[in-house]
Amino acid sequence: MKAIVLHGSPRKNKNSDTLAAYLLNGLCESISFDVRHFFTNEMNIKPCQGCLSCAKVEDKRCVIKDDMQDIYTAFIEADVIVFATPMYWGYITAQLKAVIDRMEALVVWDYFKGKTFIVLITYRYHCESTVAFFERICKYFDVRLHTITCRTLDLETDTDIPISRCQDKLNEAFELGRDLGRISASSRWTAG
Ligand SMILES: Cc1cc2nc3c(=O)[nH]c(=O)nc-3n(C[C@H](O)[C@H](O)[C@H](O)COP(=O)(O)O)c2cc1C
Repeated sequence: MKAIVLHGSPRKNKNSDTLAAYLLNGLCESISFDVRHFFTNEMNIKPCQGCLSCAKVEDKRCVIKDDMQDIYTAFIEADVIVFATPMYWGYITAQLKAVIDRMEALVVWDYFKGKTFIVLITYRYHCESTVAFFERICKYFDVRLHTITCRTLDLETDTDIPISRCQDKLNEAFELGRDLGRISASSRWTAG
């Protein structure tokens, strides 16, 4: 089984990355997943130019030859795609948005179908817009979706808190990963 993690935050090993780490610990508990991490903030990924070459039968590929090419290959091979992102101005980070725009090259040729998306969102006040976005596209493109959201703000004092103080959410991420890992292990056993 293969998984990729698309890290949206420029803050490595902080809130959304930590949530992803707990999820992966659970996922790999009963079956070994080959996991690849993509830290989008450190990658050379140009914004989509809207040329739609990727949708043309004669091309079928994105014409921009940058680090997104690695993500295309890994995405196609992966069973599970984890999106880990903080909310920035009511949406995912710009780094992750650039990746999703470039996924036009995958979706037009039906590479989303049958995948499992796990969306991990950390936020202060609102995350509904991003939750609704993933719900809409996953329904449309036949993708299984699991979402965990975690508020990293103490509402009483209106101050940021580290995700280590949100142990219930870290447990939820671990348990989701563990359940999906178990399902993958049993379906592989049944199939084999
Ligand atoms: C530039 C910037 C914009 C942000 N915009 C939002 C927002 O629109 N809504 C929200 O709930 N939180 C917002 N936040 C808070 C982050 O989403 C939150 O602190 C998150 O836990 C950070 O995750 P990270 O540690 O993985 O980077 C913003 C933070 C920054 C730095």
